[in-house]
Amino acid sequence: MKKFLAVLILVVCVISVFAFSSCNGNEGPAELAAPNERVLVVYFTWSSNTESMANYISQKTGGTLYELQPLVPYPKEYTPCTEVALKERDENARPKIKDLIGSVDEYDAIFIGYPIWWHTAPMIIGTFLESFDLSGKDIYPFTQSASMNREQFENSMQFVRDCAKGANVHDGLFARYSDTRSIDKYIDECDLP
Ligand SMILES: Cc1cc2nc3c(=O)[nH]c(=O)nc-3n(C[C@H](O)[C@H](O)[C@H](O)COP(=O)(O)O)c2cc1C
Repeated sequence: MKKFLAVLILVVCVISVFAFSSCNGNEGPAELAAPNERVLVVYFTWSSNTESMANYISQKTGGTLYELQPLVPYPKEYTPCTEVALKERDENARPKIKDLIGSVDEYDAIFIGYPIWWHTAPMIIGTFLESFDLSGKDIYPFTQSASMNREQFENSMQFVRDCAKGANVHDGLFARYSDTRSIDKYIDECDLP
């Protein structure tokens, strides 16, 4: 009887582990795709959540990773950072980018990732998008936030559309950064070169 109970408990544990790992959608490291030199995965992050999405997308698409860094770094403390970000949003500022790449001509598809800041995209996303002629390029925004509020996501999409003049801005991805199942589905539906 003891043996039977021990086996039963083991079986229940194994089933629970499998059930949990497939529930949270995070099934370990991404399979590496071959490099795709026509895809750029550009992102801005402050506390690294967007960065983990960007890494995953780059691994899955083979796209080149590029992190947007502000010339003047944002404060490391949360509240001072929110104050700077709010001022930038209210002024529709375009904060300068450190070591901005010279051109995006060689890329046909650009994934652009950011956290939601003050109900929209961080203004540095506008700086990047307005720095290049994006005519005819496919833009795939991806984002996440603390509240996962869809209206804030839609605001950010409108901001991206307004800044990416002439580009084909596709429906964006709004998913938790660890939700690899949603990220996979989104990538599968992209028409990548
Ligand atoms: C300046 C600032 C403003 C933020 N504004 C919002 C907001 O309007 N709505 C929201 O849901 N989360 C907001 N957040 C939370 C971030 O969206 C959330 O922590 C996100 O996961 C951070 O992504 P990151 O790690 O890539 O920086 C804000 C965070 C910061 C630092």
